[in-house]
Amino acid sequence: MAIQPQATMRGNVLMGVNPLGCKQEVYNQINYVKKNGSYQGPKKVLVLGASSSYGLATRISTAFGAGADTIGVSYEKGPKSERNLGTPGWYNNIAFKQAAEADGLIAKNIIGDAFTDELKQEVIDYIKEDFGGQVDLVVYSLATGRRTDPETGQVYTSAIKAIGQEVVGPDINLQKETFYQKTLAAASQEEIDETVKVMGGEDWLIWMKTLKEAGVLADGVKTVIYSYLGSDLNRAYYHDGTLGRAKADCDAKAGEINNLLADIDGQALVCVSTAVTTKASSVIPFFPVYCLALYKVMAEAGKHETPIMHKHRIYRDMIYGDQPLYDDEGRLRPDAWELDPDIQAKTTELVQQINEDNFNTDFTAYDLFMHEFYNLNGFDVAGYQEKNIEIDQLQALEP
Ligand code: NAI
Repeated sequence: MAIQPQATMRGNVLMGVNPLGCKQEVYNQINYVKKNGSYQGPKKVLVLGASSSYGLATRISTAFGAGADTIGVSYEKGPKSERNLGTPGWYNNIAFKQAAEADGLIAKNIIGDAFTDELKQEVIDYIKEDFGGQVDLVVYSLATGRRTDPETGQVYTSAIKAIGQEVVGPDINLQKETFYQKTLAAASQEEIDETVKVMGGEDWLIWMKTLKEAGVLADGVKTVIYSYLGSDLNRAYYHDGTLGRAKADCDAKAGEINNLLADIDGQALVCVSTAVTTKASSVIPFFPVYCLALYKVMAEAGKHETPIMHKHRIYRDMIYGDQPLYDDEGRLRPDAWELDPDIQAKTTELVQQINEDNFNTDFTAYDLFMHEFYNLNGFDVAGYQEKNIEIDQLQALEP
């Protein structure tokens, strides 16, 4: 019986998946890269967190923009039944692999928990046996709420909270399509520490140490992690909150990794990226309201970017191009477009006027935000042609 994919929402999490829509969305991103300039870049790339949003966009840019072979690590689930089709990233991985292999590129998908020693060893074995022995770019784009420490077995859970104060502000419930005042509690010290454990740079450092010890990093290797700093409009709940502490830990670990890689001329880079619609960002309290205003202003200025637009610009023009923009702390700052004073002034003005009557109208970028949100799970995808698909066909697809 043909499957009828349904988009169902639970709070700000989209539950359903359209496998063929995901495939079309991956092809759309590949076409974007093919039309928007190639570059001399990395040739052997490892992307940790490769199956959606920023990690997927990075993989697509380096493969189709620079001709790189790629290994993509992710934690995704395949189809179990007609009612449980698995996760979008599962299908993104498959679509990416099919397209990359059709272009003569190696595309290896490794599914599992990137925090474990076993998965790290699996990646190293693959690099040594089937990937030419070394990688010249390692991208760390994991986003998750939980991490099990491989040494102790302790499970850490991240909490998206403010620090030292409650924060009150407007938020949206995407399921109910309502605008309401939310109160975000202040985090306990334990919650701060656990968030740093999950979303900070510790596992990035472990990966780089492990890869170096195994001898699989090429001379001149680069490694990149994605950060967010934001502006005064989201400082209280992001930069000054638990996630901000985790991001500060990534800055510190970048320093350690730079020391670690000095003898092989390697470079660790924190890339402060722009706000985009992703599975991870839509559950950050208040953040969708900021996006509704920011996207409206950015789109009017011709500067609104999706993950593929942003990452392709970063790798083509900045990391492997001649237009990098660094801050005093050595971080790459492609978020300069978002933080442009004129953009922020207009966004501030707009945010202050958003209310329950206009948040989901043309007054904001609500339609654009929702379009991008549905795209994440293969719905509302440009160029998608509805075709019948059966569970057996989906289950026959290999990651
Ligand atoms: P996402 O949720 O779309 O993707 C996360 C990836 O991590 C997926 O491929 C998932 O399978 C993988 N993953 C999660 N847990 C894993 C595990 N245990 N083992 C292996 N793979 C696992 O995330 P998104 O939004 O692309 O975020 C990536 C990074 O970019 C994060 O560090 C985030 O803070 C950063 N960033 C995001 C911004 C945004 O607006 N979304 C803005 C600036 C930075």
